Amino acid sequence: MLARVWSASILGINAIQVGVEVDVAGGLPGIVVVGLPDMAVQESKERVKAALKNSGYAFPMRKIVVNLTPADLRKEGPSFDLPISVGILAASEQVDPQLLGDHLFLGEVSLDGGLRPVAGVLPIAATAIKMGIKGMIVPFENAAEAAVVAGLKVYGLRSLIEVGDFLAHPDRYAPTPTQTDLTAHTTKEIKLDLKDVKGQNHARRALEIAAAGGHNLIFVGPPGSGKTLLARRLPSILPPMSFKEALEVTQIHSVAGLLRGKGLVIDRPFRSPHHSASGPALVGGGSFPKPGEISLATHGILFLDELTEFKRDVLEFLRQPLEDGYVSISRTRQSVTFPAQFTLVASTNPCQCGYYGDTIQPCTCSPKQREQYWARLSGPLMDRIDLQVHVSRLQPEEITSHREGEASDRVRSRVEVARKIQQERFRQDEIGNINSNAQMQSRHLRHWCLLDDASRLMIEAAIRRLGLSARASDRILKVSRTIADLAGEPNIQITHVAEAIQYRTFDRMT
Ligand SMILES: Nc1ncnc2c1ncn2[C@@H]1O[C@H](COP(=O)(O)OP(=O)(O)OP(=O)(O)O)[C@@H](O)[C@H]1O
Ligand SMILES: [Mg+2]
Ligand SMILES: [Zn+2]
Repeated sequence: MLARVWSASILGINAIQVGVEVDVAGGLPGIVVVGLPDMAVQESKERVKAALKNSGYAFPMRKIVVNLTPADLRKEGPSFDLPISVGILAASEQVDPQLLGDHLFLGEVSLDGGLRPVAGVLPIAATAIKMGIKGMIVPFENAAEAAVVAGLKVYGLRSLIEVGDFLAHPDRYAPTPTQTDLTAHTTKEIKLDLKDVKGQNHARRALEIAAAGGHNLIFVGPPGSGKTLLARRLPSILPPMSFKEALEVTQIHSVAGLLRGKGLVIDRPFRSPHHSASGPALVGGGSFPKPGEISLATHGILFLDELTEFKRDVLEFLRQPLEDGYVSISRTRQSVTFPAQFTLVASTNPCQCGYYGDTIQPCTCSPKQREQYWARLSGPLMDRIDLQVHVSRLQPEEITSHREGEASDRVRSRVEVARKIQQERFRQDEIGNINSNAQMQSRHLRHWCLLDDASRLMIEAAIRRLGLSARASDRILKVSRTIADLAGEPNIQITHVAEAIQYRTFDRMT
């Protein structure tokens, strides 16, 4: 007998419908899987056989052919275990096939018949709706992420036995409640607060500007000056994500298999990969491409601590995504695009010994050594960092002081006001895909960043003095716009431009 079960496969961050056809017929006992399966799908045969037997079902001692359609799409991973199992059960008349037409099945099975979570369930749920699917049967740990899609009944089950029972008595099972807004969910994570930071007003101001306009930032300073301390507090002053942003982030994290039983991701991502991270780990890769850190950081922060320790060729990969907001990965059979709309925050010492420019400890590096040190950071990368901030060591009286710094809540309320001004501004733009000043293109600058003569002269002088590129000077304009927004000024003024220029202190050094 022939049975057909619906499932889906992931391509990039999207899902493609897959039909799993199972034929059980006379012939020599055995099971073959056709339709471009990868190794994990091939191994599914063994898992399914053991799982069915250990769940008390009969494994048909006949010829079983499993065909995955469409035939030209490569099928990856263990998520077809469940649809193949259900197909075999239906084709051998051990379960009721009635629900198979409008339900979708997805999940890995373990040898004892338990269901194990798989990656990419959220985009598959979104595709299921478009396929006209009514209900989706997934491993219990994947139910919450599937349930952020409205209009789909999601059943999170724990074993093949439960799946068989569900197919016989669907009315005994309640679907997982859907989660289609942010209101019911407050974050439990306690964020690091800026009030723990003493002094460092210059660096705190830069963090506020970065948060308000989505600008890239680097802290440069001696060991122990508080660079890491400061950077880790940026999430506490970012505005909350919209539902749309949360959905996009959840989709990427779903494909990467990072949700682990959670539903919607509501906190802005803060990703801090170690400096030993490889190119593919950072930008994405693999034969079935998976998103890397830059995509996981979408709508949030990518924090590269100790930037000069990262391999230079790995950093080079960041250049294009920083410009475009996405990354494309090409493979012989397919090419996929992942979003990569993140704010880059980096930190580094000013030189090998760490003390160049310090007020107390002398730098022991030679000029040659300092030059080599800065050469590790590529000029084009620094060019894309809008806020380059020197963090000096605290003064002795600042260290011993017990005064708390301004709390994150208060800073965030100013950031939110500046973000509202930007949203209002870009709502009028026909593209409508811009959320912050940092994402403005050149044509927007002509529109939104008009300068008076004095400001223009000041930028021209800076270009000459610092040898700035056209990109760097565009970035000065964007930062000026954010500083003006924080000040509630409709027009950019010379003081805003002056402040923006002083955040380009390190262009010279690369
Ligand atoms: N401004 C500050 N306010 C309060 N504590 C501080 C401050 N700066 C540094 N500290 C203390 O010093 C510790 C070291 O700071 P942090 O790790 O941020 O330094 P760093 O600049 O990242 O140094 P490195 O270059 O060695 O990585 C912090 O954990 C904190 O205890
Ligand atoms: Mg540090
Ligand atoms: Zn030095």
